[in-house]
Amino acid sequence: MRNKTYKHMYHIFGKKGWVNDPNGSCYYDGKYHIFYQYAPDYPESALKYWGHVSSEDMIHWEDNGIALRPDIPQDKDGVYSGTAFCDDGKMELFYTGNVKHPGNHDYILTGREQNVIYLSSDDGYNFSEKELLMTNEDFPKSMGLHVRDPKVWKENDKYYMFLGARSVDDKASMLFFESDDKKNWQLYKEYTPSAQLGYMFECPDYFEVDGVKAIGGCPQGMDSQEYKFMNMYQSGYFILNETTIHSSNEELEKDITVENFKEWDMGFDFYAPQVFTTPEGKKIIIGWAGVPDAPYDNAKSLEEGFEHSLTLFREISYDSDKKIFKTYPIKGYEELRKEEKEVLLTDDKKKVTLDSSFDLEAKATGKAQIVFSDTEGNKDLVFAFKDGVCELKFLNETGCKRDVRRAKVEKVENVRIFMDQSIIEIYVNGGEVVFTSRYYPNDDNIVATFDGFYEVNAYSLEEIDY
Ligand code: FRU
Repeated sequence: MRNKTYKHMYHIFGKKGWVNDPNGSCYYDGKYHIFYQYAPDYPESALKYWGHVSSEDMIHWEDNGIALRPDIPQDKDGVYSGTAFCDDGKMELFYTGNVKHPGNHDYILTGREQNVIYLSSDDGYNFSEKELLMTNEDFPKSMGLHVRDPKVWKENDKYYMFLGARSVDDKASMLFFESDDKKNWQLYKEYTPSAQLGYMFECPDYFEVDGVKAIGGCPQGMDSQEYKFMNMYQSGYFILNETTIHSSNEELEKDITVENFKEWDMGFDFYAPQVFTTPEGKKIIIGWAGVPDAPYDNAKSLEEGFEHSLTLFREISYDSDKKIFKTYPIKGYEELRKEEKEVLLTDDKKKVTLDSSFDLEAKATGKAQIVFSDTEGNKDLVFAFKDGVCELKFLNETGCKRDVRRAKVEKVENVRIFMDQSIIEIYVNGGEVVFTSRYYPNDDNIVATFDGFYEVNAYSLEEIDY
């Protein structure tokens, strides 16, 4: 029996309402700032605001409430996603103002307006008046009305803006603008890749990790494969091996391919991440632990009036052998460990009874399996590795329609697993493969049984005061 809350203890979430994409993630004036898509009145209304939290260490957070509201005609139906640019001394925010017309909003050519809006802050907490920078009229005619989620950066004294788009012929597309002053933007390049990336490219990103540059983003409508692209929509990156972001479209075709698109997280729930830089130059990724249009209507957290969270903060590193980015929780979460749990050995298997907020580390030998059950032995969830395939499989209806996610991986050497009341994050081989999923255990405790693992260490975690 579950008596405890499903509300998270150390993940960023809205105590009431719905959360989706992280927005404006940055380090500014001595603090990390994370904004996020927030619908405080969900499920009555999904009108999006920007919630705001800030922190000195990315572990302990201060809730700063709502930062941006849909209060001008150009964002009246939602302060949609956007990014922060802090390289010129101020915190400057660029986001999409969403306007819906009556009727269906999902048509390509009718139903909505998407505007690029700007504001700035000198302290990270108080913002200037909103300024409208671009409307659909400023976007090329080859694009439909879905053009959103600006990412801005500076290179050789020029500013660039990257927007995700849906072309009139229904293909995932990328738009690039340039500017000398961040206010007046000229079209620099429009690119509709010939790779099968579906119909829409959301939340574009551009970043460099360990000298390797990449385009990130969320294509909607890619075809699922047996071991990849199994989530509702995808979220990943294209490493620019042979090209730069300034290459011609023809050149870019070498790198923007389905084969070269790597997922950040194998699911079930990961989307719309942002990459930002710490003062020491580390690259951090934070995502939404959810995916648009996935079945969350029976999620158990709704009974408590909230839905979704952001993921843990993950440091990105480049693995030059595998030619992928690994992502692993930043150092610091260990501070939240309050009690080491006793690991017992029964029938050759290690077993530990955990609270529903825990951090565990385990090393594996070959074929390996972890079964998560309630205290009466009813199995909920299995993480297994066999014959080059890792699998996360739900055995019951866990209050959030789940089945299975798979990933190919040569071998499993270690896993680190974080659970926080109703979200689980599984990091395989230091972040080579990651699975993030909503998980609503039916009991206050979870029993984990390990087969093929040695050196299991598990800790219950304390709540952050936020
Ligand atoms: C991605 C997304 C963005 C949009 C926002 C609206 O999850 O659809 O493209 O700006 O969410 O909440």
